[in-house]
Amino acid sequence: MEFSLQAEKLSKRFDTQTLAVEDISLKVKPGEFLTLLGPSGGGKTTTLRLLAGFEKPSSGRIQIGSRIVADDAHFTPPEKRRIGMVFQDYALFPHVNARENIGFGLGRNTKERSKQIERMLALVGMAPYAERMPHELSGGQQQRVALARALAPNPDILLLDEPFSNLDTGLRAQVRTDVRRILRETETTAIFVTHDQEEALSLSDEIAVIFEGKLLQLATPHAIYNRPVSMRVAKFVGDANFMPAEAHGMTAQCRLGEVKLFHPKTGKVQLLIRPEALAVRFDEIGTPATVLWREFFGHYQRLGLALADGAELMARAGVDRYFRRGDKVWVSMALPALAYDV
Ligand SMILES: Nc1ncnc2c1ncn2[C@@H]1O[C@H](COP(=O)(O)OP(=O)(O)OP(=O)(O)O)[C@@H](O)[C@H]1O
Ligand SMILES: [Mg+2]
Repeated sequence: MEFSLQAEKLSKRFDTQTLAVEDISLKVKPGEFLTLLGPSGGGKTTTLRLLAGFEKPSSGRIQIGSRIVADDAHFTPPEKRRIGMVFQDYALFPHVNARENIGFGLGRNTKERSKQIERMLALVGMAPYAERMPHELSGGQQQRVALARALAPNPDILLLDEPFSNLDTGLRAQVRTDVRRILRETETTAIFVTHDQEEALSLSDEIAVIFEGKLLQLATPHAIYNRPVSMRVAKFVGDANFMPAEAHGMTAQCRLGEVKLFHPKTGKVQLLIRPEALAVRFDEIGTPATVLWREFFGHYQRLGLALADGAELMARAGVDRYFRRGDKVWVSMALPALAYDV
């Protein structure tokens, strides 16, 4: 399989104290959408800047298609990498209109240049606003211009650093869907940075979870959520309950009785129990519990439960029945649990 972008053991040390990126290896296939997900200060922006060529790696290798663009011997500057970057703050040129912003990377004034600008304006739905200056555009519109500007030179790879963070929820969902569609239509390979786990899960072909400069897991959204490699990843991606248990093969004994496991284990473990893996009922099936709190989201409810010994669990329930604080309920496992050695 040929990879569009490959980083091998990439590290960046800013000073003796700060190893911002440590031995990160990534592969992105042509046309795929990879998300870098992780907490603030984890090294996501630094990784993008290394890939784009705005920073020189302290060690490691970056390959784009068949070209090595950075290693001990080579360093290709950003303008020669055929990479487009959309910065978090859009960074539009304030003194030229949307059309000229989009045309920035397209070289001389030719027929092909204006054709490409029109194509990009249409692609992001900004043709009616082509003559507007950046300050005359809304945040979402500026975002689209920034995206069109990055896509106009037909980059092999598009890097997006938290591009939706300044948009309100409704617009964010709209622009997000548009961007994903545009990337599919143009078959652009993209690497996207976010610390919003829902955004990462819903948009990506693969997710790279980065903590403290290190890559903890690179996998599909499904695998990151359902088979996190560590309790740390599990906690960061989605809501998680952990419960001590004694495993014996494909089952484990815990406060909820005998529960099924995804993988065989023996001895002391911590179980990862996602809220939706718990069934909460009024009929006496499972372990008795009391509802401590409830959050209602319209299409589901989130419940805080206390077991008889005081242990607390978070559960998720549908809206076919309603729960209230103080309700006596019964809780059981509806799905197998993932077990981690302790
Ligand atoms: N130019 C720099 N000089 C020194 N240290 C830097 C520099 N740029 C980043 N760092 C440090 O490197 C680490 C990683 O920063 P980075 O910006 O890559 O994090 P991030 O994952 O993008 O965080 P956020 O989610 O807050 O944007 C941080 O500790 C940061 O302070
Ligand atoms: Mg950042």
